[in-house]
Amino acid sequence: MEELKKIRKHFEKKLKEIVDPKVLETLEVEYLGRKGKLTQILRSLKNRTGAERRKIGKAANELKERLERLFAVAKKDLETKHLERSLREERIDVTAPGHSMPVGGVHPLTKAAREVIDIFGRMGFAVAEGPEAETERYNFDALNIPADHPAREMWDTLWLKPERTNPKSMPAGLAGKIRNPKLLMRTHTSPVQIRFMETHRPPFKIISPGRVFRHEATDASHDIQFWQLEGLAIGREVSVANLKWTLESFFNQFFQPKAGELAVEIRLRPSYFPFTEPSFEVDMRGGDGDWMEIAGAGMVHPQVLRNCGIDPNLWQGFAFGMGIDRLAMLKYKIPDIRLFRENDIKFLKQFIGK
Ligand code: FA5
Repeated sequence: MEELKKIRKHFEKKLKEIVDPKVLETLEVEYLGRKGKLTQILRSLKNRTGAERRKIGKAANELKERLERLFAVAKKDLETKHLERSLREERIDVTAPGHSMPVGGVHPLTKAAREVIDIFGRMGFAVAEGPEAETERYNFDALNIPADHPAREMWDTLWLKPERTNPKSMPAGLAGKIRNPKLLMRTHTSPVQIRFMETHRPPFKIISPGRVFRHEATDASHDIQFWQLEGLAIGREVSVANLKWTLESFFNQFFQPKAGELAVEIRLRPSYFPFTEPSFEVDMRGGDGDWMEIAGAGMVHPQVLRNCGIDPNLWQGFAFGMGIDRLAMLKYKIPDIRLFRENDIKFLKQFIGK
């Protein structure tokens, strides 16, 4: 009977101190569980005499009921407190102003390149690609620009150190083919013309957007690294008129003159490129009425076709190369080409969502 009193006192004392529902559960196990203090007393009754058993049994059962009741009340109380606290502390203020999430955007050059690819794609041009580290043969020789030709000076070249031209480190498939493995950073996207013509039979129409590199002084419209877009169309009767229509049509879709503005017009000025004959500079006139140089172009030189195993008596075509940076500058009214590669977040942010 003494023991029962002790149990009751301890249980009630501990119960008052508990604030955590988990601790409450351990208390339940400790006193009322299968191996609990009270259960043990009830179990030990079988060793007692009849009168003792009745007396202690009665008191023990009453205590058990009492503890169970106290436990249930405490449990409910703790749960209510817990609920009240979480309602108070985790309240959502639906009137509080929201936090805006920072959103990224594509770089204006990527955006311009994607639009260009899209427009030419709808005109039936497929996309071809080539490596940025090129061989002398593809960047110059096969395009009719041998080493001793003064036209090489048209492109200020960044050469790679000879040890980097180890055939083992070359793009797959190139190693055995190349007689002169001197590598350079391609100065234009025209080598992709050669790569494509060597491996495909005409007729075909391709564009090739990509990065090119030149060792030259920078100014507002010249950078040492910029994007070009090469175009090439080879067929039986492809003509300069086709070239002019293709470019004019592209510019009108890219710049989308608004109602009341002049449509974009182009004109071809005689020029010189060793890989085209005749060759032109392409000027365009936009909404403001001024002519501006935007691309080089021409009819693919018969020797270039021959270099790629295509018979110039059967096939002819046009090619052009334009600066994507310059297109983007005109479209988004960017005054300096160098802004594209400065990574100035204030500049780049202007294009988010545009
Ligand atoms: C060429 O690179 C020729 N491969 C283009 C060509 C292709 C002619 C096919 C005929 C047939 P050019 O060096 O002019 O040509 O460059 C072509 C265009 O690239 C220029 O009209 C201009 O838009 C752009 N460009 C040239 N140099 C720079 C530079 N430093 N920075 C930015 N854009 C440039």
